[in-house]
Amino acid sequence: MAQNPTKVYNGARFGGFGELIRLHDEFNFLMPKKTVSANVRKKLEQAAIKVMKNAHAPYSNFHVGAAILLTNGKIFSGCNVENASYGMTNCAERTAIFTAVAELGPKIEIQAVAVTNDQGKACSPCGACRQVIYEFGPDATIFFQGAAGPKQAHITELLPEGFRLQ
Ligand code: THU
Repeated sequence: MAQNPTKVYNGARFGGFGELIRLHDEFNFLMPKKTVSANVRKKLEQAAIKVMKNAHAPYSNFHVGAAILLTNGKIFSGCNVENASYGMTNCAERTAIFTAVAELGPKIEIQAVAVTNDQGKACSPCGACRQVIYEFGPDATIFFQGAAGPKQAHITELLPEGFRLQ
């Protein structure tokens, strides 16, 4: 029997800022979500469609556009940029996010992301992009084309237990 029993939460000792972050993530589904109006969603989708034409996608021929809305109201967009060495490809979502960071610095918060493609195919952010969205938008809403039509999801639905280095 321990002399100084330590409160245990979810298998980890409770205490400190890291635990608070874990609690936030664990109970995120109980927290009110910042919603995006239909107008803003449309604006975001239009920005994603507009940038799609700049995609460099000679290998997949799949042109993708993404637009992100920051909590400061600014919108950034990006397209996929492929490479002959396929693994070097950058998805539209990450292009948009990295552009925002390059312009404004790392203290940005993503409120929403819209993803579009030129073939009307189901296209949710890939796993790598989900993790990058989570880094800057742990409360972000994602608009994308699902298997049965347009869909929206919270980032933690797409990426449960996203990684955070605290
Ligand atoms: N792609 C994106 O840009 N975003 C997604 O959400 C899914 C896939 C790109 C990567 C690659 O250039 C092409 O689509 C085919 O995988």
